[in-house]
Amino acid sequence: MSKGTYYITTPIYYPSDKLHIGHAYCTVATDAMARYKRLTGCEVMFLTGTDEHGQKIEDKAKAAGVSPQQFVDNIVKGERGILDLWKLMNISNDRFIRTTDDYHVKSIQRIFRRMYENGDIYKGKYVGKYCKPCESFWTESQLVDGKCPDCGGEVQDAEEEAYFFRASKYAQRVRKLLTETDFLQPASRVNEMVNNFIDCEGGLQDLCVSRTSFKWGVPVDFDEKHVVYVWLDALFNYMTALGFENDRYDDLDKFWPADVHFVGKEIVRFHAIYWPAFLMSLDLPLPKHVYGHGWLVMDGGKMSKSKGNVVDPYILAERFGVDALRFFLLRTFPFGSDGNFSNELLINTINVDLANDLGNLVSRSAAMVEKYFGGTLPKTGVSEDIDGELVSMAGTLRGRYEAQMEKFQFQNALEEVFKVIARANKYIDETGPWILAKDESRKGRLATVLYNLLETVRICAVLLTPFMPDSVEKIFTQIGASEDEQTWDSAETFGVLHDGVTVCKGDAIFPRIDAKKELEELDRLQEAAKAAVKPAIPPVTIEEFAKVKLQACKVISCENVPKSDKLLKFTLDDGSGRERQILSGIAKYYKPGELVGKTVLACTNLPPRKMMGQESCGMIISAVSGDDLKLVILDDGIPAGAELC
Ligand code: MSP
Repeated sequence: MSKGTYYITTPIYYPSDKLHIGHAYCTVATDAMARYKRLTGCEVMFLTGTDEHGQKIEDKAKAAGVSPQQFVDNIVKGERGILDLWKLMNISNDRFIRTTDDYHVKSIQRIFRRMYENGDIYKGKYVGKYCKPCESFWTESQLVDGKCPDCGGEVQDAEEEAYFFRASKYAQRVRKLLTETDFLQPASRVNEMVNNFIDCEGGLQDLCVSRTSFKWGVPVDFDEKHVVYVWLDALFNYMTALGFENDRYDDLDKFWPADVHFVGKEIVRFHAIYWPAFLMSLDLPLPKHVYGHGWLVMDGGKMSKSKGNVVDPYILAERFGVDALRFFLLRTFPFGSDGNFSNELLINTINVDLANDLGNLVSRSAAMVEKYFGGTLPKTGVSEDIDGELVSMAGTLRGRYEAQMEKFQFQNALEEVFKVIARANKYIDETGPWILAKDESRKGRLATVLYNLLETVRICAVLLTPFMPDSVEKIFTQIGASEDEQTWDSAETFGVLHDGVTVCKGDAIFPRIDAKKELEELDRLQEAAKAAVKPAIPPVTIEEFAKVKLQACKVISCENVPKSDKLLKFTLDDGSGRERQILSGIAKYYKPGELVGKTVLACTNLPPRKMMGQESCGMIISAVSGDDLKLVILDDGIPAGAELC
């Protein structure tokens, strides 16, 4: 019987780059919550998707020499793209929305028009600052040291005719929502929102919700110069994906308002202030909760492609298994706070929790049933006091776990499960099954001990289902649990596993990892992956290529540049009768003397520029591979000045 409906969402991700482990973190958490709710009997709608409009995507597509649609299609649907990643990570989303989906675009146009017609969107002039990577407008006073307060990047001046949303009108209602309800979680995020955006000087400002400086967006259908601001376009995905203002879907009544939007802490502002205000403007019910989770950081800093410190979830999932990676992400970091990611921590968690504690418990328990009873447990019935603590801990585990899951505290929920697993391992040492096995008269007692172990494993496996769906299936097979012994209801009480259960010993579910070897291999793979990600270079036409003048030059002299570790100064014969001076940053690779007399290749029609106070007229061509660099040395028979064509 359904225990009601549950609607949960991830942010819709920008397909401007491949996603990294931080994106996977949020999606895995959402997936665990969705699976948990399904397990408890709810009818779940789990939505994820991609936020595909905006200037950044337009710029990136241009740089790659493709259309914006081709660009996003490749990142979303291409090999090892976003859809492939979610499949690999075993994400059980019910729907996937792309903001370029036709039905969404039309819905956004209707929504924008409705807000214009009800007077909450009006035409004005935008003067302020714009951060391209974040697609965010800022007023001067919101900048931190003149930079974007979200990403710390450069902002640009922006002034244009634009439509505005009357956010100011809803300031007090939003304030009440934040301060008097548990809408925004964790509660620790409330003050920052209220202080910085509502109780700040000037109060909550109206929001600029259209742009005219680029085209890649949803056109305002009554004023086609404008495209809708990406955040208005993006936030409404949570409703258009259910059929709001379209007939592609029709389950808005069933699932709206959402139970929770999981979002990273940097986009709480949009979800906790503007999103409710937009909904208020249209008189729509508000989502029940927004949960702002923390970031996975590397050495204290946010992962980002531009810093080159992103971790590729493909590499980790393929090496350690999807379930181990999913488990690690939710077991290790408290969901509401930042967590420092490292490969060491990942391997350690797999070895300690999964291989040692859980894996050993399962394999030892099944192996003992096999060894002492030929695989099938006889009827039991010889309990002793020592069983009490384990039986009671396992029998009440579901309640403690549920309390944590309802608060989105995945780490604590898993901690409860692993306390019981640790208790069961201790129980093996306390009861000493191998000693009981030596005494024929204690076979009944031995059977009870082994039953208690299998039953504990069963309850834990049911509760681990949302985190490691594939591995728990293997566990259920190994301990011989039937289908109805794998349900949420069956985990409520101890003693459900049927008498006479037959185990099925299998391979180790979580093999132990050789940390040192694996860390070296991971470093190698991650470096190789980094090197393989070349910035997209747009194709050039033959006419453009022909503009580059490449000539053979003889090295007349070469010397170090004072005060520079990097530069060598070349005097070259380029066949013109005049000497040419070029500075090149290759001092790390060559001693000046070894290059005199060589024939090198140089680009000779670059505009001159100064380096360390000296003029450089051109560029000497070298070949680079990883950390290695070699000059392109030509055959000595090629005369100075010969042109490459
Ligand atoms: N497109 C917007 C969201 C619109 S929702 C209506 C966006 N996209 S994003 O691609 O930048 O994804 C942001 C989300 O990815 C974060 O809010 C967070 O959930 C997740 N993460 C991205 N990097 C992360 C970490 N380093 N750590 C944890 N989560 C991270 O913002």
